[in-house]
Amino acid sequence: MVDAAHILDRLGLSQLNPGATIGAWSPAPDQTRTFESLNPATGLALATVSRASIQEYEQVVGAAQQAFLAWRMVPAPKRGEVIRLIGQALREKKDLLGTLVSLEVGKIKAEGDGEVQEMIDMADFAVGQSRMLYGLTMQSERPAHRMYEQWHPLGVVGVITAFNFPVAVWAWNAFIAAVAGDTVLWKPSPKAPLCALAVQRIFRAVLEEQGYPDVFGLVLSDDVSLAERMVEDARLPLISFTGSVPVGRRVAELVGKRLGRTLLELSGNNAIIVDEQADLELATRAIVFGAVGTAGQRCTSTRRLIVHESVRNTLLTKLIAAYKQVRIGDPLEPGVLMGPLIDRAAVERYRETLDEVRREGGEVLVGGSVLDRPGFYVEPTIVSAQHRWKAVQRETFAPILYLMTYKTIDEAIAMHNDVPQGLSSAIFTDSVRRAERFLSAAGSDCGIANVNIGTSGAEIGGAFGGEKETGGGREAGSDSWKAYMRRQTNTINWSTDLPLAQGIRFGE
Ligand code: UN1
Repeated sequence: MVDAAHILDRLGLSQLNPGATIGAWSPAPDQTRTFESLNPATGLALATVSRASIQEYEQVVGAAQQAFLAWRMVPAPKRGEVIRLIGQALREKKDLLGTLVSLEVGKIKAEGDGEVQEMIDMADFAVGQSRMLYGLTMQSERPAHRMYEQWHPLGVVGVITAFNFPVAVWAWNAFIAAVAGDTVLWKPSPKAPLCALAVQRIFRAVLEEQGYPDVFGLVLSDDVSLAERMVEDARLPLISFTGSVPVGRRVAELVGKRLGRTLLELSGNNAIIVDEQADLELATRAIVFGAVGTAGQRCTSTRRLIVHESVRNTLLTKLIAAYKQVRIGDPLEPGVLMGPLIDRAAVERYRETLDEVRREGGEVLVGGSVLDRPGFYVEPTIVSAQHRWKAVQRETFAPILYLMTYKTIDEAIAMHNDVPQGLSSAIFTDSVRRAERFLSAAGSDCGIANVNIGTSGAEIGGAFGGEKETGGGREAGSDSWKAYMRRQTNTINWSTDLPLAQGIRFGE
């Protein structure tokens, strides 16, 4: 049994109870404005933290604006150096932070550590990126003119993250934003305030030691009105939001109203197609990791299985055997593969969704029950389904996998794409033709499409994000840095004449 108080203490969070707030460590402010961080494995409180007031919010935004004025003038490779040091600090704290992620959101330890590793990878990536904020040079049509573009920092970037990746998704945004010259205002999920405080503390120490201003600001709140204020705040030119489609829609509306920018990472409804030539052993392993890993609470979790009818029974037998091997329990216990869901509401949604699917005629093939023990545990579940059913069309953050069959690859791809979301997708096949068909313009309509790899567990470096209701944002790789900067086109005339573009003669 891990001693939670000891972990919090070693991460410098011992003075938390009750409450640290915002970026600065203000010891125990108003006791009436607090909320609890629960350990989903026990259902008991880990700590009490204080909810930021409007004044505190203003203070943090003000500090981030102030910090931006200095930070934007620090050369990008020097900003990268700070991120390198932060990556170093994260390496030292990986085990502790990974444990805290497990404690606060219920991921198994390997996945908690994996999440910290994702931050470290992101730090390395951002360090390299800091020397590669490239702009193009264009050929001017006018003599003795030079034309080029450059990328400038945007300002204070608002980052709103979900509970399921309480630190990695923040790092995707914050590290790239920081090397781009932005400062960051972070509002983490109210279900994971301790993870946010712990990383904030680590970064603050590095920044202070290096003599840099407060590049990373934090507001903790479980009150939606504070999130709305942030989204409506014209001082934040970009809002990066990770969460559900309904909330993402609201964010897009509010930011759109003020013509700000959004980066949206919303729901996925990710499917794996398994064709008649697939390596079923490989497919089974990928499906179990995708559907059961993180208790089905990743945006990239595998939710739909579209299987060629000729291999359905063989695959299902393998899956049922594998599902029965999955040890459910305390996420910090070695050998456990599936921890709890995040909270009681998530358990209710699991139960209601299965009831709904049963009413439609779905048959539970394995799992299907809520465990009778403290904490928020359910069984990983496979249920036979039809792809047009309402439940199959939406994302339920739980380990429920819908099994469907097909006859032709055209039918499989049509079924695959016939959902509102478009995040991640995969095909298992040894057929080059079918694999390429799946990756073609007439194939998967998702932001991520894999062959012989599951839907979840993407490495950083590639652009992460999805189409349709998933929101269109791209983070964590490729040229995603551009979202955090503003482009400026510059034309310089070094002649003594003033030739006009398009050959226009004006008043001559
Ligand atoms: C998320 O679920 O919000 O690809 C992000 C993955 C992880 C990130 C998931 N690297 O599953």
